[in-house]
Amino acid sequence: MNVLFVSSEVAPFAKTGGLGDVGAALPRHLHERGHDVRVFLPLYRSVQAELTAVLPEMTFAMGPHTVRASILSAPLPRSGMPVYFVRCPSLYDRRGIYDAPDDHLRFAVLNRAALEACRALRFSPDIAHVNDWPTGLLPLLLRTSFAQDPLFAKTRSVLTIHNLGHQGTFPASAVPDMGLEPARALLHQDDLRQGRVRFLTTGILHANAITTVSPTYAREIQTFERGVGLDGLLRTRRDVLFGILNGIDEDEWNPSSDRHLPHHFSVEDLSGKARCKTALLDALRLRGQAEMPLVGLVSRLVWQKGIDLCMAVLPRLLRKRPFRLVVLGNGEQRYTQFFARLADAFPAQVSYQSGFDETRAHWIEAGCDLFLMPSRYEPCGLNQMYSLRYGTPPIVHKTGGLADTVQQWDRGRGTGFVFDHFDEAGLTWAVERALDVYAQGRAQWEVLQRNGMRMPLGWRHRIGEYVELYRKLRPGIG
Ligand code: ADP
Ligand code: GLC
Repeated sequence: MNVLFVSSEVAPFAKTGGLGDVGAALPRHLHERGHDVRVFLPLYRSVQAELTAVLPEMTFAMGPHTVRASILSAPLPRSGMPVYFVRCPSLYDRRGIYDAPDDHLRFAVLNRAALEACRALRFSPDIAHVNDWPTGLLPLLLRTSFAQDPLFAKTRSVLTIHNLGHQGTFPASAVPDMGLEPARALLHQDDLRQGRVRFLTTGILHANAITTVSPTYAREIQTFERGVGLDGLLRTRRDVLFGILNGIDEDEWNPSSDRHLPHHFSVEDLSGKARCKTALLDALRLRGQAEMPLVGLVSRLVWQKGIDLCMAVLPRLLRKRPFRLVVLGNGEQRYTQFFARLADAFPAQVSYQSGFDETRAHWIEAGCDLFLMPSRYEPCGLNQMYSLRYGTPPIVHKTGGLADTVQQWDRGRGTGFVFDHFDEAGLTWAVERALDVYAQGRAQWEVLQRNGMRMPLGWRHRIGEYVELYRKLRPGIG
């Protein structure tokens, strides 16, 4: 099958969260199955790669703009899959990936340039797979500007929603600016009446199929409580809306070969995990008995992640129970300040590091005894799956992909600690229960660890579901 895959993040080139991980691993696993996959993303300033010119000059009109771009490529590391970068310095050669005042133009250009490049390369996609709001216009472009081109006559589009909380909302004046005036009648009419245009509603209206990253989140987003205003629209498309759980990249996240770790371990031999813990505690300069439990948290520090609950619960728990906490995360100031203050108040127990640090993230997954992920909502979540694989039972709120991947520990069965109600009592209960079970001794703790480590979480167990969906949309291929 020919697959065009477009994403605003593809790790290691560009990553702010899980989208970057999935934007690399999902297409790579399709490529490894023999499909011809072409991945597109913008050439941000932060991209580090040895690039080869593919299309030195591409010019196209977009509303009042004449866009001049070029396409360069680099193979995905540890894979031969080609990744194509859209080079347009006036739009992408800046600090950061999102939150610029002209984001509508930056990402409209990404959508168009990917299709223009397919045209120039004579690449005829069976499937155009797009991800989240930044690529939400592409399904509409296939129905309008590119509809007459025989190259795209059979192309079917798939939109994967990784997070409904981000919708790509712009004032309606962006419509002509993005060259969408001729397609006005096909945009979401209520949005226009409210003086706005949204990339995500456009994608939801026009994609041939919509997926989201866990079965539970697929159900949740069709409800008023979790639909972020789009539950009604999503219900109208429920026949083509599917929940497919993400996988983890087992080349990147495998405790027996992880290149970031000082020691390795496996489900058969956990001894290296204890050595990772000691190394991590030394690096963090945290004191206390080796057996004292160490809880980890690696996260974007934003509202979605339930940090408010941590603020309400952790100081009291740290005073009451002997455990240590290591936090790695970037984000909103009120949360970063909270963790900085917490580390000051409990210097022997708490360590906080801000910034983005891939190696430290792996050390925390490997060296901790428990992983904390009390998200308010979580479309899938990768960190809890990494922690399961690394023998670090997660403490999670029962929502979205967390509900689909973590089972409550109960008399020898289960993989972690799950609280139903997103409130202080819920989180307090789950943390205390986890600490109690930890205190009951190694034997049953290792059963809990191994239950999680044995779970089939890799992409190779998931990718078939995407292939099956593609085949349903394009019968007779692949
Ligand atoms: P989300 O995509 O909502 O942020 P996920 O759990 O799906 O949540 O994915 C988060 C990814 O980002 C993981 O790979 C995690 O290790 C990584 N990550 C988040 N914050 C940091 C950080 N400060 N340093 C390194 N990696 C981080
Ligand atoms: C989003 C979600 C997260 C998911 C990731 C990858 O960032 O917040 O739950 O795991 O995308 O799909």
